[in-house]
Amino acid sequence: MDRNIASLLVYPFEKNRIEMPSADQRALFCDVEYSNDFHLFPKINVWQNFKTYANSWINNYDDAVDAIPQTETYDYVLCHLPKQKDLSLSTLSHASQSLKEGGLLIAVAANDAGGRKIEGWMEGLGYSSESDSKSKCRIVWGIKESLNLDVIEQYIEQNKQQTIEVAGYNFVTQPGIYGWNKIDRGSEILTSYLPANLSGIGADFGCGYGYLSDHILKNKNIKKLHICDADKMALDCARINLDQYSDKVAIKYHWCDLTQEKPFQDLLDFIVMNPPFHAGKKTDISIGIRFIEQAHKALKPNGTLYFVANKHLPYENTLQNLFSKNEKLCEEEGYKVFKANR
Ligand SMILES: C[S@@+](CC[C@H](N)C(=O)[O-])C[C@H]1O[C@@H](n2cnc3c(N)ncnc32)[C@H](O)[C@@H]1O
Repeated sequence: MDRNIASLLVYPFEKNRIEMPSADQRALFCDVEYSNDFHLFPKINVWQNFKTYANSWINNYDDAVDAIPQTETYDYVLCHLPKQKDLSLSTLSHASQSLKEGGLLIAVAANDAGGRKIEGWMEGLGYSSESDSKSKCRIVWGIKESLNLDVIEQYIEQNKQQTIEVAGYNFVTQPGIYGWNKIDRGSEILTSYLPANLSGIGADFGCGYGYLSDHILKNKNIKKLHICDADKMALDCARINLDQYSDKVAIKYHWCDLTQEKPFQDLLDFIVMNPPFHAGKKTDISIGIRFIEQAHKALKPNGTLYFVANKHLPYENTLQNLFSKNEKLCEEEGYKVFKANR
């Protein structure tokens, strides 16, 4: 089996370029998918924003956490950097704050997803770094000694939650969340096909910062809404953006991987969604198909799924196989909107 990219974080230890950790040394993993190779670290904490990868740790370690701990410092901090440059810089900055003076920061990314830039970024923070390459990835490490603390603070500040105004709406959002500083055009088109009389119990599958939920919660007949996303930062923003509706509607927030988990017991009257269709850089329609299957399971008989997808994504067969009725409500600007009844 291929090693996952994150497991390359131990490559410099395997090549004897770094000494093995001693029994009392502690390591923090940031945004790293679990690998058996990490057992060379005797004491581990984990921060993981994306639930799919958090799940990969859950059976192996009890102390997976969902925010970078501010109180402890570590001998090693290991990061799998995200694709976005700003988020990578903020991850490296948080990681640096979590390191003991003299501790070691190790980061990995695929060459075509920022890997080639890691050394430059770490040097900008004040590290003198070393690096190695394997499997089209770059692994870079450096000791924390007299870092550029102002630069670190600045990257953390720039990537905090912030309020943005888009098309007359104010939303709390954060760099790194899908489409963090815009309204997704597909979602906007979907809203113009949602009926004004949505009622009962519903869900927003893959809520992002909460744009679709905000739209439907203006409707007075909704009793309860399940808000779901695998991205913890997105869910935290949605919680803030939707708080204004919480005295009238029961809103439940679920940090979950919808391809693996159904995080609530209710059977639903409706679901809205704009499903993801990428795994890393590659188009992967299996995620959207899984969202449709999970939506089908979560709906009441005759409950309704409304969703938008890019025009080229072939979801029609899945819809036809699962739902008793389905209808394409529109095809415009490269998107298609479906309504499907269970
Ligand atoms: C295309 S975005 C739509 C966001 C939002 N609904 C909007 O309209 O702006 C898809 C969302 O699905 C989330 N997502 C991706 N994979 C997921 C998974 N396996 N389980 C749950 N949510 C997931 C992403 O974090 C992202 O917020």
